[in-house]
Parts: sequence; structure tokens; C-alpha cells
Amino acid sequence: MSAPRLLLKNVACHYGPVDVLANISLTVQPGEFVSILGPSGSGKSTLFKLLTGAHRPDAGNMLFDGLPLDGRRPFAFMPQRDALMPWRRILDNTTLGLEVQGLSRHEARKRVMPLFAEFGLSGFERNYPAELSGGMRQRAALLRTVVQDKPMLLLDEPFGALDALTRTGMQRWLEAMWAHHRWTAMLVTHDVREAVHLSDRIYVLSPRPARVIREIVIDLPRPRMVDGVTRRQAAEIEADILDTLFHPPTDLTSAPNEDQTPCRRSC
Ligand SMILES: Nc1ncnc2c1ncn2[C@@H]1O[C@H](COP(=O)(O)OP(=O)(O)O)[C@@H](O)[C@H]1O
Ligand SMILES: [Mg+2]
Repeated sequence: MSAPRLLLKNVACHYGPVDVLANISLTVQPGEFVSILGPSGSGKSTLFKLLTGAHRPDAGNMLFDGLPLDGRRPFAFMPQRDALMPWRRILDNTTLGLEVQGLSRHEARKRVMPLFAEFGLSGFERNYPAELSGGMRQRAALLRTVVQDKPMLLLDEPFGALDALTRTGMQRWLEAMWAHHRWTAMLVTHDVREAVHLSDRIYVLSPRPARVIREIVIDLPRPRMVDGVTRRQAAEIEADILDTLFHPPTDLTSAPNEDQTPCRRSC
């Protein structure tokens, strides 16, 4: 197997007296779609804060392409809220990440414009976010993220605010986009179906302080959820994962992180 693009080993962190991540180890291979699935409040967004440098780990190592992350931030991050600026037109929202990277507005526009059709946003370049549906806003936020052309995407519950039908449509769309572009991607979600639909592999987290309690390879054919056989197989996997979430192993030494030394602080 090739060297992992991202490797976390025994990562732990806390906020004040609150232990959030107890001991997280995981890998993401180049071109792989990996989900982190865990209950609300388990520390999923915190994991992204560590990767993006917004919060520091107390213990553990974070390697990207074999080297410590340190100050490097090779991620395009889509935060939990769509975070479009309501006073900027969709076009100017999608250029934001590039402008932050130092591109002129003109150059940034040249980069994003060709993607509007693929993201189903043609004709809405000059609209404001409030004039778009929830699904379109999420596609605009995703466009802003992927156009930055970073080595890896971090997606934090990208469809969490959408109604169930729109969410399913967006998951199908994202699956097709991923199949085309083969981004290296890490998604955090509390939606089991979403994780099974989209992922090559899933890490299941325990409630806070979070540990990896299970790692599952999803080898269903793609596109998923289109034929009855795959849907039934996916439903079985979902039920199995739900069992794990509702009845997490009490003996966490038998979980996939068993080879890890305990984190250095008292957690
Ligand atoms: N900046 C912060 N200061 C203190 N506690 C925080 C902060 N951010 C998150 N938390 C707490 O850390 C825990 C994990 O939060 P979070 O990573 O957002 O969970 P998730 O994304 O899995 O829902 C929660 O109990 C939350 O209240
Ligand atoms: Mg979160």
C-alpha cells in the first residue's frame, strides 16, 4: 500500500478541563474518501480544528505525506456552516479562498467560472446566497473549497442543514463528483447513511472523549444507492454501524486503537 497522505497517531486534545479527543489514530490514502462518524459533541469538528491549525493537540503526531504537519496547511476546508458571506454575490463568494491565497479577483474569477456548470450553479453567478436553495448554497461552498486545488479536502457535515431529500440528492451528486475528480477527502458526519454512501472507509468514534472504536472498509460498488442489491447491502452495514454507536465496546482496549500507547496526559 502507498504511504498515507494523512496519518494521525495517538492524537489527543482538550478544552480546559474537558477531554475531547482521547486517542485518535487514523490514515487517509491518496485518492481515498474517508469518513469520521461519531455522535454530536464527540469531537469531530475539533479534529478538523487540529488539522487546520485552529487548535493545538496535547499529544500525538500528525503527518502529511510522511512529514509533520507543523505550519503546513495542505487542506481545503469546508466548515460545518456554509459560511457564505451574505453580502457577496455567489461568484465573489466562490473566489474568496483564492483571493485569500493572494490571487487577484480577476484571476480568481477566471479559475472559478468554468466550474459553475459542473456545480449546477450556471446563471446564479450574480445572485446573493439568500436567493439560492440550501443545496445550491452548499454546492457554492464546495466549489469555493475545491477550487483552491489543495492536496486534500476536509468536509465538516456539509449537508447537515439540508432536508432529507435534498441531502440525498447532494450525496449522489458528491459521489459522482468524487468519482470524477478522485479528491483525497475526509468527511465528518453523524449521518450513518451518508458515511456508507460516500466512503471507502469509515472510522467510528466513541462519545467524548473520542476514541476510534471501529474501522470499516466499505467495498460496495459505485455509484451506490442506485440499485436494490447495493441498497440492501448498504442498509445492513448501516444497521451494523448503528449497533456499534448505540452499544460502543466498553472494553476500549479491544478497539482498533489497542496497539496505541495511552495519551501522555491524564485522559
Ligand atoms: N472552543 C471550545 N471551547 C470549549 N469547548 C469546546 C469548544 N469547541 C467545542 N467544544 C466542546 O468540545 C466537544 C466536541 O465539540 P465538537 O468537536 O464541535 O463536536 P462534534 O463536531 O463532534 O459535534 C463538545 O463537548 C463541545 O462543547
Ligand atoms: Mg461538528
